Amino acid sequence: MRSINIGIIGAGTVGSGVWELFSLNKDLIENKSGMVIKIMRIADKDNKKKKTLGIPDRVFTNSAEDVISDPDVDIVVELIGGTTDARECIIKAASNGKHIVTANKALLAKHGIEILTSVMKNEVELGFEASVGGGIPIIKTINEALIGNRITRLIGILNGTSNFILTKMTREKLGFTQALKIAQEMGFAEADPTLDISGGDARHKITILSSLAFNTMIDHDKVYMEGIDKIDIKDIQYAEEFGFVTKLLAVAELLDAGILVRVHPTLVSRDNPLAAVMWEDNAVMVHSDFLGKSMYYGKGAGAKPTASAVVADILDIAQRVINRAEYNKNRYTFFKDLPQIGFSANRTRYYFRFNVLDRPGILSRISGVLGDNNISIASVIQKETEEQYEHVPLVMLTHEAVEADVQNAISKINTFDEVEGKGIIIRVMEE
Ligand code: HSE
Repeated sequence: MRSINIGIIGAGTVGSGVWELFSLNKDLIENKSGMVIKIMRIADKDNKKKKTLGIPDRVFTNSAEDVISDPDVDIVVELIGGTTDARECIIKAASNGKHIVTANKALLAKHGIEILTSVMKNEVELGFEASVGGGIPIIKTINEALIGNRITRLIGILNGTSNFILTKMTREKLGFTQALKIAQEMGFAEADPTLDISGGDARHKITILSSLAFNTMIDHDKVYMEGIDKIDIKDIQYAEEFGFVTKLLAVAELLDAGILVRVHPTLVSRDNPLAAVMWEDNAVMVHSDFLGKSMYYGKGAGAKPTASAVVADILDIAQRVINRAEYNKNRYTFFKDLPQIGFSANRTRYYFRFNVLDRPGILSRISGVLGDNNISIASVIQKETEEQYEHVPLVMLTHEAVEADVQNAISKINTFDEVEGKGIIIRVMEE
């Protein structure tokens, strides 16, 4: 059997998962692939990892350099994350002629051009399935299974932590802070969960997916982002009365004027399969011209699911190396420079909630401003509250409207004396 040697940088959650997978499923992998994958080196700064994982002395090192420069290593697996050391490791490994596998979404989303340029220049392979959707083979699906399709739309639930928190709030009628605390206690959210709850993690992931789906380099900084941290349990409940479930969606669409990519809380119809994606699970719905609508669902995070994707990339690259496959120099050079549209052109239905004084004429003042901005109301509910509150919630659902018009209208309505605080805006997705 032919063998391929790999070196792993980082024995944290994912690195440990990869070690465990190769230990447990060695025979399965060898029988299926006809190849032997040898882990030559594993680098981690923490010496304790050697003992906890049972890594032999000759394999374990504290230095990433030992992995990158080892002449026997064919594939370098970068699992340290972040955009500084990881970036250096990958660029250096590529220039040493090593093929690369990484799970690093932030690095690819922010420095994708530099990384792709480096791997193409050195004619080495790059596998990054684990960077999006954990164990869900969504990158392979876009690159291979759907290769003959023109993709027009991606809709993803790409952050497990946010999905867990929203599910917890919905199911148990909890506030955001309480649900976040439980997510942290259960190990879903990081100690610093900012990237998860701000939408930043989903933005990294949709930047990668949409670049591949639309064959263009999406500018991460131009992707609109709004997280779940301002979501109020009241809105989740009112939205349920309209038949919607609240989700953090990452959406990328090919429109006539270009590509629009956005991440924000969204009301999804109860009948939509995305509404059934709960807890820490992820899913991506793809619209494409020949297959139509298809959806990919599974575990979006965690040691085992992510290791599953890393190992699949290693085996794919090993197969190409062993078969001496010709290097596809066009893999990323056919990328077009498509225009990326700003969020102000976004067109969806909207959910609004205003806290208003229960006085005659207020509904007509608000609907007047909405009408002046081409926003047509589809339904309205005014909720009763206890007598001690002067203000009552006025909840509205609109027909399709344009984001710029909505922002104009809401900032005007927010100035009304009868309106307390700021109006709540949540986008609605209908298919
Ligand atoms: N923090 C991520 C999530 C997992 O909650 O989905 C890794 O991508």
